[in-house]
Amino acid sequence: MNDLKKFYIETYGCQMNVADSEVVSSIMSSSGYTQSAHLEGADVIFVNTCAVRENAEERVYGRLGDFKHLKKANPGLVVGVLGCMAERLRKDLMESESFVDLVVGPDEYRRLPRLVENAVAGEKGIAVRLSRVENYDDIVPFRADGISAWISVMRGCDKFCTFCVVPFTRGRERSRSLSSIVREVEGLAQRGFKEVTLLGQNVNSYLDQSLDFADLLAAVARIDRRIRIRFTTSHPQDMSDKLIDTIARNPNVCNYIHLPVQSGSDRVLELMNRTYSTDHYLKLVDRIKRTIPGVSLSTDIIAGFPTETAEDHKSTIELLKEVGYDGAFTFKYSPRENTKAWTMTDDVSETLKTERLNEIIDVQREISFRKNQDIVGSTVEVLVEGESKKSASDYCGRTDTNKMVVFSKNGFEAGEYISVRVERANSATLFGTHVPR
Ligand code: SAH
Ligand code: SF4
Ligand code: F3S
Repeated sequence: MNDLKKFYIETYGCQMNVADSEVVSSIMSSSGYTQSAHLEGADVIFVNTCAVRENAEERVYGRLGDFKHLKKANPGLVVGVLGCMAERLRKDLMESESFVDLVVGPDEYRRLPRLVENAVAGEKGIAVRLSRVENYDDIVPFRADGISAWISVMRGCDKFCTFCVVPFTRGRERSRSLSSIVREVEGLAQRGFKEVTLLGQNVNSYLDQSLDFADLLAAVARIDRRIRIRFTTSHPQDMSDKLIDTIARNPNVCNYIHLPVQSGSDRVLELMNRTYSTDHYLKLVDRIKRTIPGVSLSTDIIAGFPTETAEDHKSTIELLKEVGYDGAFTFKYSPRENTKAWTMTDDVSETLKTERLNEIIDVQREISFRKNQDIVGSTVEVLVEGESKKSASDYCGRTDTNKMVVFSKNGFEAGEYISVRVERANSATLFGTHVPR
């Protein structure tokens, strides 16, 4: 036994990493460690990292600088880098950051307690094997009580979009069993959770033998109709009619789909290996809108992919307008080693990337604003989340379509469903008043 007891974990990147950190907490807790909410006094520090864009990695490097100082003051401290950067940089990371004791990729978390023990004995550790089967199916993630939970239902990605590092950091696609996911949601229902988000890099390519994502969604939705079911991220290629019908038929499956298009130019989509055309995408959006009335859609857009012309960029702007997204996550193209696009020249200048990104953001803000104005005057159902970040006298919560709503505090509790009449809106938030039902 060792006398190390407290671990602290800091998480960067996507929701999959948040879910993975809960798996790490569970593994460490079953080995006799306790989680600390603070850096100070921790014996083990983990940083669960993201490698998707250069600026994501820069943030982590900045943070590692802080840990280096802590380690100087306390040489017994164990510092572990987990997640996608660990997988991408492997040995290099340990060499460039000499105070790091452990480098552990996303499929090796079961080995953490042993690796930490070794590190205490002075042995550095690196574990970055990717697995075709590891899905932590038997590990119940450690979650604090709350109203929302994130559940990974599949891991990895086989799509190999040419810009993306995820297939290299997360390995091949694999799904958890439907029965274990259902069991996990039943447990959350008993604990009073009100919202569950099913996660995967391509959540709609989920497959457990003959059971697909639509089957999973239906099975999870019927556990407790008071629980809202969300899911992310859907790939446009795997969005079946059966899945669209399942969303429409189940009232507690939220009418919100994050459906990244990346670009509005067929030439660029082809270079990105996205495997669909704008025509396929727009027809899909049309089917979704017809089948799920009032559906809300969001997207991811990359500005400045190699060879992107002013014309290509214009097509993206046109597509944004044609679809009329409720929101968009927008990024400047960032070259990633090992990806196919890494071998293409990053030939769109930084200035042009910024210019195009800003135009995309402005156009989308205008669209979101207009869509939100259409809601003003109507009454929406809100799942209360808690105090508004901006004002202590207000509460906030979300609609089923994932819109943030702010309203006056009035003795509501987190996890309660209430009706709110929307009185005004900006591009990001609806503001209103509670109306008794
Ligand atoms: N699996 C999801 C999301 C993966 S990463 C999907 O397929 O949509 C989240 C977003 O980051 C991507 O949708 C993409 O828009 C962006 N992204 C990924 N790699 C990038 C890169 N090299 N440069 C800029 N943006 C990138
Ligand atoms: Fe990356 Fe494409 Fe896979 Fe999404 S689908 S994780 S963008 S390779
Ligand atoms: Fe980042 Fe890895 Fe997620 S690269 S976006 S943390 S899968």
